[in-house]
Amino acid sequence: MHPLRTLILAAAGNDAIRRLVATAPVSRDVVRRFVAGERTADAVRVTREIAASGRWVTLDHLGEDVADEAQADQNVRAYTELLDALHAEGLTARAEVSVKLTAVGQKLDERLALDNASRVCAAAEQCGTTVTLDMEDHTTTESTLRVLRELRRTWPSTGAVLQSYLRRTLADCEALAGSRVRLVKGAYAEPEPVAFDGREVDLNYVRCVNALLSGDGYPMFATHDPRLVRIVAERARWYDRRPGTYEYQMLFGVRQDEQRRLAREGETVRVYVPYGSQWYGYLMRRLAERPANTTFFARALVSH
Ligand code: FDA
Repeated sequence: MHPLRTLILAAAGNDAIRRLVATAPVSRDVVRRFVAGERTADAVRVTREIAASGRWVTLDHLGEDVADEAQADQNVRAYTELLDALHAEGLTARAEVSVKLTAVGQKLDERLALDNASRVCAAAEQCGTTVTLDMEDHTTTESTLRVLRELRRTWPSTGAVLQSYLRRTLADCEALAGSRVRLVKGAYAEPEPVAFDGREVDLNYVRCVNALLSGDGYPMFATHDPRLVRIVAERARWYDRRPGTYEYQMLFGVRQDEQRRLAREGETVRVYVPYGSQWYGYLMRRLAERPANTTFFARALVSH
């Protein structure tokens, strides 16, 4: 892993740095580039705009690693409020939600996380949409896949995220190839025994693309990497997959022109839209991905 990336991901766990960044006035400007806003109404407004441009949306209520049951409950309520608001505006045909299990209690108790995620899945179903479980660091993978299996008994459309940097992921893709799977490279600092590095991550991404496209599930290719986007398009043709039987996904604020280009070509493009006040961990992972963003952020911090 690039040393700068390792440094930023390490800083993300440091309380002093967290306080400095979270209270710096400039943070708001930087955050606005990657986060829709703090309130449900912001999330709904951005969803409306993206839907009007012919793209789809998945919404993430920011918050991870909750410390108690009350916080986990608050996060569940944020999702149910959001789903009701989207439904009231007729937007649930275009939008689903993404949930991090640590935001609903996974680190406290897996059973609590399952119960809470079930509440979100039930609310999503009532509003005519569905849920995808985000994937966090590798210490949570096994537990997240266990919870996914339980949820899929009642809500078979529940999706999972798999990360091509993990050595285990090709086997997970093969096991889940009949369902909704979002394939990403992976955003956490992982140790060498469990994760690939550099070019191997991309090679494994392509192996996973093949595994998912050859199955009968619904693959969701979440990457901004132009080379991988081209390979997905070529592989989709090879496997005789029509647009709409798979989709591309990108993050809010990243490569918008490319999102629009793919949508114009008739592809399904879904934008991952985070919102809420707990933006710190999310922002640090975005900065770690791209040194250009880090420079922009550091310069803005210093000039304030
Ligand atoms: P990478 O960061 O390697 O970039 C490759 C190339 O893409 C760059 O060289 C550049 O050409 C282009 N590019 C990238 N960013 C750009 C930018 N800002 N502007 C212009 N060009 C750019 N991770 C995780 O661990 N768990 C999860 O649940 C999720 N969920 C998730 C959902 C969705 C919809 C997305 C898109 C991503 C995630 N991720 C994630 C994050 C993911 O793991 C990964 O960290 C980022 O997507 C960055 O990796 P890329 O594949 O985009 O390529």
